[in-house]
Parts: sequence; structure tokens; C-alpha cells
Amino acid sequence: MSETTASRRAVVTGAARGIGAAIADRLEVDGFDVVRLDVLGGGGVLRCDVTDAAAVRQIAESVGDVDVLVNNAAIWRFAALEDVDPADFDAVLDINVRGPFLTTQAFGRSMLRMGRGSIVNIVSIGALHANPAVGAYSASKAALVALTRQTALEWGPRGVRANAVGPGLIATEGAGVYHDPEVRRARAEAVPLRRLGEPGDISEVVAFFASDASAYVTGQVLYVDGGLSSSLMTTLPRPAGMPGPQLPSTASARGEHSDA
Ligand SMILES: NC(=O)c1ccc[n+]([C@@H]2O[C@H](COP(=O)([O-])OP(=O)(O)OC[C@H]3O[C@@H](n4cnc5c(N)ncnc54)[C@H](O)[C@@H]3O)[C@@H](O)[C@H]2O)c1
Repeated sequence: MSETTASRRAVVTGAARGIGAAIADRLEVDGFDVVRLDVLGGGGVLRCDVTDAAAVRQIAESVGDVDVLVNNAAIWRFAALEDVDPADFDAVLDINVRGPFLTTQAFGRSMLRMGRGSIVNIVSIGALHANPAVGAYSASKAALVALTRQTALEWGPRGVRANAVGPGLIATEGAGVYHDPEVRRARAEAVPLRRLGEPGDISEVVAFFASDASAYVTGQVLYVDGGLSSSLMTTLPRPAGMPGPQLPSTASARGEHSDA
């Protein structure tokens, strides 16, 4: 248990499974008393819909002082832009942006009072790069990056830091695209580090932002994607004889699925 994080409290949203569960487990290893929130309650997870302002406020009051907040809960809905149902657009923005705003306000209150705290927002490489048929998802994650910077600017002078972690291709239960082994293989080949990410790859970086090791870091986004967000130029055709790697074969995955 780390000396600096002993008896500190962390709140993780969307902690019932996937990346959120891994983050909660990892913060416990660092000695945090972790409050796990999810719309799916049970098994040590407190039921909480992050879009329910009154419920979030009530839980924040009952939980008490919070040192770390990880906004991880999110949803995605796939449709071509012209077919996006406005109700789905609203749901994605509500959970992915308004939810983190509500939890930041509610749990941030004790951070401001204590004059210390770290907020970590889970975004996506979608905040940087357009992706076919993800509807409002990329826009929601770009908005969450903006909210991260806003929080860093306004609360930095009062001792509260805010940073974002942007996962790349992470095989989780929620990311249904990875249930297809051929898509998994082809996508792993397209990543410079030649593998899909695991929830543990994300939780390690969240633990860094949650800890005093990042005491002078705020307003930043760290993409944890095996290099994928730096690999745009690999998609360009190369003339015969030009040095450099050949394009990996991703044809089977292209256009058929979208990732989170
Ligand atoms: N898996 C990926 O490839 C990937 C890539 C980029 C970003 N991300 C981001 O990582 C985070 C976790 O993704 P994941 O793959 O573990 O997803 P997941 O669907 O497995 O887990 C998300 C959790 O959030 C919960 N949740 C949904 N709506 C909620 C609400 N209104 N209130 C409270 N909880 C709610 C769900 O019940 C679920 O337990 C998300 O922010 C996602 O956008 C994932």
C-alpha cells in the first residue's frame, strides 16, 4: 500500500465490468477505499445512474470526502450519420458528457473543500479521429476532453487536477466488435504494438493520474492505444520499391464494425 494514498477514497463510475472494474481493482491495490458506481448494481457495486442528478448528489453526500473521481461510464450507439436517431444522440451525450459533469460537480465539492483531488475522465481515440458510423460517440468524447480542460483550468488554483485517458482498441464485454475472432486478429495487426489493449493497460495509467506521481500534470489527455492514433500514414498506398512496412490486411474488418 502506498504511503501517499493510504485511507484515501476513490469513486469509479461504470465499475460493474470491463475497464471500470479493472480501474476500481487497481486503485484498491494502491490503497484507495473505492466506491464502485454503475447502473448495474449488486456484488459490491452501488446502483447509480450518472444521469440522475438527484441520485448522484445524494450518493456524494453519503460517501463523504473523495480524493479521486474516475468518470468511466459510457455508452455507444452505432448508425450511419444520416440514420442516427435523435433519441440515441441525446442518450449518448447524456451519459457520456452530462453524467461526468454531474459527478464532477457532486464529488468535486469535497475536493474543493479539501484543496486537493484528481479527476480522471475516460475518453477515447474517437475524440481525436472520426470513425465510421459511431453517431454521437466521437462528439461526446471530444466534449469530455473539453470538460477535462475546463475543470483543470477552473479548479487547478484550488488544488484539483483533471486529466483524461483515451483508450484505443480494448477487448471488453461491452465492445461487441471484439467478439469476432477474425476482427480481433485483423485489428491487432493494425496496431503498431501488434495487439489489442486490455483493461489493465488503461487502469495502470489511471493509477498514475490518481497518484501524486502526476502531481504537476493537469489538463492533459493520454492516449493508451498501442500507437494506433499515430499510425494514420500507414493507411497510404506506397509505390513499388519504396522502403517501409507494407499495409497489414485489415480488409475483413473495414467497414463492417465500429469500435468504441
Ligand atoms: N472498449 C474499448 O475499446 C474502448 C475504447 C475507447 C474508449 N472506451 C471507453 O472506456 C470506458 C469503459 O468501456 P468498456 O469497454 O469497459 O465498456 P462497458 O460497456 O463494458 O462498461 C461500461 C459500464 O458503464 C455502465 N454504465 C452505462 N451507462 C451508465 C449510467 N447511465 N450510469 C452508470 N453506469 C453506466 C455500464 O453498465 C457498464 O458497466 C467507456 O468510457 C468507453 O467509452 C472503451
